[in-house]
Amino acid sequence: MPDLPPRPTAPTHRVPRVLSGQKAIVTGANSGIGRAVALAFGQAGADVVVNYVVGDPSADEVVQTIRAEGGRAYAHKADVSNEDQVEAMFKRMIDEFGTVDILVANAGLQRDAAFPEMTLAQWNTVIGVNLTGQFLCARAAVREFLRRGVVPAVSNAAGKIVCMSSVHQAIPWSGHANYAASKGGIKMLMESLAQEMAPHRIRVNSIAPGAIRTPINTAAWQTPAAYERLMTLVPYRRIGEPIDIARAAVWLASDDADYVVGTTLFVDGGMMLFPGFATGG
Ligand code: BGC
Repeated sequence: MPDLPPRPTAPTHRVPRVLSGQKAIVTGANSGIGRAVALAFGQAGADVVVNYVVGDPSADEVVQTIRAEGGRAYAHKADVSNEDQVEAMFKRMIDEFGTVDILVANAGLQRDAAFPEMTLAQWNTVIGVNLTGQFLCARAAVREFLRRGVVPAVSNAAGKIVCMSSVHQAIPWSGHANYAASKGGIKMLMESLAQEMAPHRIRVNSIAPGAIRTPINTAAWQTPAAYERLMTLVPYRRIGEPIDIARAAVWLASDDADYVVGTTLFVDGGMMLFPGFATGG
């Protein structure tokens, strides 16, 4: 097996302008996957609300980058697990941008603990942000999609939601029961919502990333030993980059994916392929 180095992916200027004139909100958009999605959406022609909860300078940097490339964007601080803050965030978006065409429900976190030691606070924080946060944001987005309906000049759909899930919606994860439960919950939330909303021409789908180089999992890739261990779980033998997920999000949110409804797109370098069975079983 050749020892392949992590491959820095190409710059984002290859993002096609398939979201022109659409209004998008990306939660957790000041770092990691959310940041890459917000930047790619700006390049794809969308106006972008950059939601964040901690880190004003990093949210500002994302906004400035989108503006420097000719896009419209502003940052909005809100905790997605807080109903009032989510409602206020969508109200402002409708005031400033006129409507909502796309929600990328991305905000997520980990509070890892061995199960016997896991506190209720760790459980509640993860379920609150990762799962309840997606419920609150999706509900606010759907209400606006239903109010406005399809505008054919903008999109074939009345609205699109991309839920950021994880391979851990399917792969159990010891030491991370709260996180895996939240992602399993996202799977059924997404599928139930997709089924309920499809007749209204609202498309709801998920992306399930594998190991992506972001701050959430530095311990998994920062040292050569950790990286090598991680690669035993990744048949494609490189870590994912945030832009790998951003490109998938642009496509799912665009009319190029108009017939894609209720699907989970795994973007994981083959992590779902039971890599432990490559040589045995
Ligand atoms: C987690 C990462 C992890 C990856 C693959 C993600 O959902 O947030 O910490 O590296 O799944 O296990």
